[in-house]
Amino acid sequence: MFSRNSPMHHHLLSLFFSILIIPTHCDDRKTYIVYLGDLPKGMEITELHHISMVQGVLGRNFAAEALVHSYKKSFNGFAVRLTKEEAKRVEEMDGVISVFQSKTHKPQTTRSWDFIGFPQKVNRSSLESDVIVGVIDSGIWPESDSFNDHGFSSPPKKWKGSCQNITCNNKIIGAKYFRVDGSFGKDDTISPRDSEGHGTHTASTVAGNWVNSARLFGLGEGAARGGVPSARIAVYKTCWSSGCETTDILAAFDEAIFDGVDILSVSLSFKSMGHPDLFQDVFAIGAFYAMKKGILTSIAAANMGPELSTMNSFAPWSLSVAASTIDRKFSTKVQLGDGGVFEGVSLNTFDLHNTTYPLIYSGDAPNITGGFNSSRSRLCFGNSLDESKVKGKIVLCDELPSDATRLSGAVGVVLPTATYSKDTASFFVFPLPLAVLTLNDGRTIHSYLNSTSNPTAAIYKTNEGKDSLAPYVASFSSRGPNMITPNILKPDIAAPGVDIIAAWPSITPISNEKGDKRLSKFNIISGTSMACPHATAAAAYVKSFHPTWSPAAIKSALMTTATPMSPALNPEAEFAYGAGQINPIKAVTPGLVYDISESDYVRFLCGQGYNRTSLRSITDEEVNCKKMEKETVWDLNLPSFALKRNISVSFFSVFHRTVTNVVAAKSVYKAEVIAPQSLLTIQVTPSVLSFSSMGEKKSFTVTIEGTINVEIVSASLIWDDGNSQVRSPIVVYGTQ
Ligand SMILES: *[C@@H]1O[C@H](CO)[C@@H](O)[C@H](O)[C@H]1NC(C)=O
Ligand SMILES: *[C@@H]1O[C@H](CO)[C@@H](O)[C@H](O)[C@H]1NC(C)=O
Ligand SMILES: *[C@@H]1O[C@H](CO)[C@@H](O)[C@H](O)[C@H]1NC(C)=O
Ligand SMILES: *[C@@H]1O[C@H](CO)[C@@H](O)[C@H](O)[C@H]1NC(C)=O
Ligand SMILES: *[C@@H]1O[C@H](CO)[C@@H](O)[C@H](O)[C@H]1NC(C)=O
Ligand SMILES: *[C@@H]1O[C@H](CO)[C@@H](O)[C@H](O)[C@H]1NC(C)=O
Ligand SMILES: *[C@@H]1O[C@H](CO)[C@@H](O)[C@H](O)[C@H]1NC(C)=O
Ligand SMILES: *[C@@H]1O[C@H](CO)[C@@H](O)[C@H](O)[C@H]1NC(C)=O
Repeated sequence: MFSRNSPMHHHLLSLFFSILIIPTHCDDRKTYIVYLGDLPKGMEITELHHISMVQGVLGRNFAAEALVHSYKKSFNGFAVRLTKEEAKRVEEMDGVISVFQSKTHKPQTTRSWDFIGFPQKVNRSSLESDVIVGVIDSGIWPESDSFNDHGFSSPPKKWKGSCQNITCNNKIIGAKYFRVDGSFGKDDTISPRDSEGHGTHTASTVAGNWVNSARLFGLGEGAARGGVPSARIAVYKTCWSSGCETTDILAAFDEAIFDGVDILSVSLSFKSMGHPDLFQDVFAIGAFYAMKKGILTSIAAANMGPELSTMNSFAPWSLSVAASTIDRKFSTKVQLGDGGVFEGVSLNTFDLHNTTYPLIYSGDAPNITGGFNSSRSRLCFGNSLDESKVKGKIVLCDELPSDATRLSGAVGVVLPTATYSKDTASFFVFPLPLAVLTLNDGRTIHSYLNSTSNPTAAIYKTNEGKDSLAPYVASFSSRGPNMITPNILKPDIAAPGVDIIAAWPSITPISNEKGDKRLSKFNIISGTSMACPHATAAAAYVKSFHPTWSPAAIKSALMTTATPMSPALNPEAEFAYGAGQINPIKAVTPGLVYDISESDYVRFLCGQGYNRTSLRSITDEEVNCKKMEKETVWDLNLPSFALKRNISVSFFSVFHRTVTNVVAAKSVYKAEVIAPQSLLTIQVTPSVLSFSSMGEKKSFTVTIEGTINVEIVSASLIWDDGNSQVRSPIVVYGTQ
């Protein structure tokens, strides 16, 4: 999956969650999830049902111990250890929707709120404290000031959740952990307590209290706060030292939906790209049942950008969130003995007091006794460097050192990289002083090294500056288009995800590397994992004003009020940022919403090729798939339009949409289309919609015709009544 990415990117990602170690079992059985759809009405499902079901096909000698977990609170299914052949036989049974192997996933702060125009003193709904945000992640550090329950009343009456190991307070009202096969690693804390940091960071970004003077060793100083500080938090820990298993994530959805959360925040994604089937995608299945219960699931778009087609969250009932920058940027200066100065990027909290150290190229210091030559040592991994040559020096490396806590006694690292960009290097905190530079700067430094017998350099502590280009989408943020449903736009929206400061466990090194002694109550990290909780909070904020709105209505409000972003800064346009950057305040009064019911999604699934038999078990709605043509899945009532067409072939396509009036009873909306005239003709019929009451619905069609000769053409439709501008992105993209 990382084939399109540099090794550096790869390393950055694995810093958060180390690579999976698959436990070796003596047989060739693997854990599969057998997904059965809705819970049957009027009947309680037990483990015995699931065991006897498997015995029905595999015979009496199927051992009950092979059943790993039963999902029976919010939907029906189970996890079971099977051989490939057995899995095939189970898949053919009546009532089985899908059988798929469990995999390991990975998780992908607070100037950011001010930057997007969501200040501390924003109007708040008195119902904000009734909103319960479920966070599926690596747990929580309950002692953090961000989760203090001072001034909170008791939890909302409807709440059914509880806390394992740690004591709930009125802020953290739920905390459970999931490891359904019981295989913990030696570094795992067997409780909802977070020892990785990721879950604490994301939960506090959504709903952390206002904490004054948050900082990371002087960096990012300011108040830290979640988007909805009065909301309640329920954590579902599914991520452990070995990663996050499908079986556990599905168990967390099962539990969270049953407990009664209002919004779900899932900063996790598949490790690999693309996915063949929505019903083999744990996030799509979980979010589908959440949707049925009125819960919107916000999910990270993944960190495999910047190339196109690097996303893997495609379910139209989820909100898929890309990561954008804020106007704060961190830079780290490198100064050479000859006076040359280079502006690098990184989050270097180490203060070397501007001291100059000898500089050496890693390729000139191979550990020969260890069997390494120059072409290995230049990559700076493991023991490849000769300690007697690099100790006490700054090392110019060609790759990010993999085992950096004690890089053969080096003082610091200067790293030129082809993937240098203003946003990649500040992706993480490194256990040594580090400055990441462009390849060009690297060459200049190398020739300085060659030109003198006593080369020296200094790495300065990171400096905070302003990025006047912001916002743009971070290079790591995964891009569309949608690989499963090409005529549905993904990602949906962008939110801040670069250099976000938020709460951190006070026992966890800020670089996540053992041996790094730096501890802090706050940490600065980047990723679509950080963008997701911003969007979750925006959704919770909208929900606090409109508790009865459906997940689709909330998603629509967020998308149609998003601030448009610049295609000049992001050539991938909508495939990078969806509808644009979240604007929570505007999202409370969107004017119109594009609502979607469960039966609309079921019709969409028909269009995706699922038939009546398989859909009957996931919905009570009457299903008639015959009427659905495959092409018309784009008629799903989303607030965005995507169309994949052959380059240089003329086309004519019709979209159907329905909007619901939600803000002013009497209003007249006019359609305005912004499109490149030379390529597309877009017609909206009718072009005026008059509403006389709240909740009134009006339908219209959008016809798009033309011929495209470039890969991506962006346009938009805006319904405007003089007060609200209800904007939908339109993207037509080409294939050869
Ligand atoms: C807050 O609400 C009040 C009353 O509804 C309104 O007048 C005011 O404009 C709102 N302020 C903001 C910043 O939205
Ligand atoms: C948390 O509770 C579980 C179940 O009671 C127990 O097995 C586990 O050891 C506890 N963890 C800690 C860290 O106390
Ligand atoms: C290091 O240099 C920076 C400017 O480049 C300066 O602001 C700072 O005071 C210096 N620190 C020390 C310890 O001299
Ligand atoms: C060289 O590598 C070997 C084996 O990997 C290691 O034990 C040794 O400490 C290294 N030597 C130096 C001088 O770094
Ligand atoms: C360096 O070592 C690697 C692996 O040990 C070997 O494949 C490579 O040929 C060596 N390169 C040189 C220049 O000796
Ligand atoms: C530095 O010197 C080495 C060997 O002497 C050479 O291979 C390399 O190209 C030089 N680099 C620069 C940037 O001058
Ligand atoms: C429905 O789909 C399932 C699974 O794809 C298939 O086995 C079955 O034959 C289909 N039924 C009909 C009536 O097409
Ligand atoms: C687009 O191109 C593909 C592959 O060349 C072809 O199968 C398809 O029929 C074309 N569609 C149209 C509308 O021309």
